[in-house]
Amino acid sequence: MGYTGSRAREERWRFGESRVRGVGTDLVDVNRLARSLRRRNGFAETVFCSDELRFCHSQRSPEHHFAARFAAKEAFLKALGLGVFSGIALTDIEVVRDHDGAPRLRLGPTAAAALARVGGKAALLSMSHQRRVALAVVVVP
Ligand SMILES: CC(C)(COP(=O)(O)OP(=O)(O)OC[C@H]1O[C@@H](n2cnc3c(N)ncnc32)[C@H](O)[C@@H]1OP(=O)(O)O)[C@@H](O)C(=O)NCCC(=O)NCCS
Repeated sequence: MGYTGSRAREERWRFGESRVRGVGTDLVDVNRLARSLRRRNGFAETVFCSDELRFCHSQRSPEHHFAARFAAKEAFLKALGLGVFSGIALTDIEVVRDHDGAPRLRLGPTAAAALARVGGKAALLSMSHQRRVALAVVVVP
């Protein structure tokens, strides 16, 4: 689905001088993602960057952190009005952590180009996880 063709969507997110270009959210079943990571050969490396793999594996409950990062990647695509088969490498949508633990997106070439195409200035991320589910929200100003 193209984003720029949607005039109604553009109007919906225009507030005075400021303008939100997109918002996306995703909810991930922690156990389901953990099963994919266990069973699908090469799945983890296709989806996650090496720093993401290192961070998640260093945590007490890696599957929750993986699930939140998977949600973040999907939420980014939704915020841009794109899907998983849009040609953007999921490893180009990387979650990094600030010194206080706050998550931030670091975009590789295919994701940065998609953001630029919608005129996005940034992609702001928030994530949460609990026992069964992980959630991410991305806002593109
Ligand atoms: C941020 C905070 C509210 C998270 O609450 P929580 O219920 O434990 O966490 P949730 O399960 O809802 O979400 C976890 C996610 O929150 C995010 N998060 C962590 N710290 C954050 C922060 N400071 N700001 C925004 N998001 C944060 C991370 O993405 C984390 O996921 P990850 O560990 O997989 O990267 C809590 O950890 C807190 O109050 N920390 C103190 C942060 C602070 O004050 N830091 C300043 C001192 S340097």
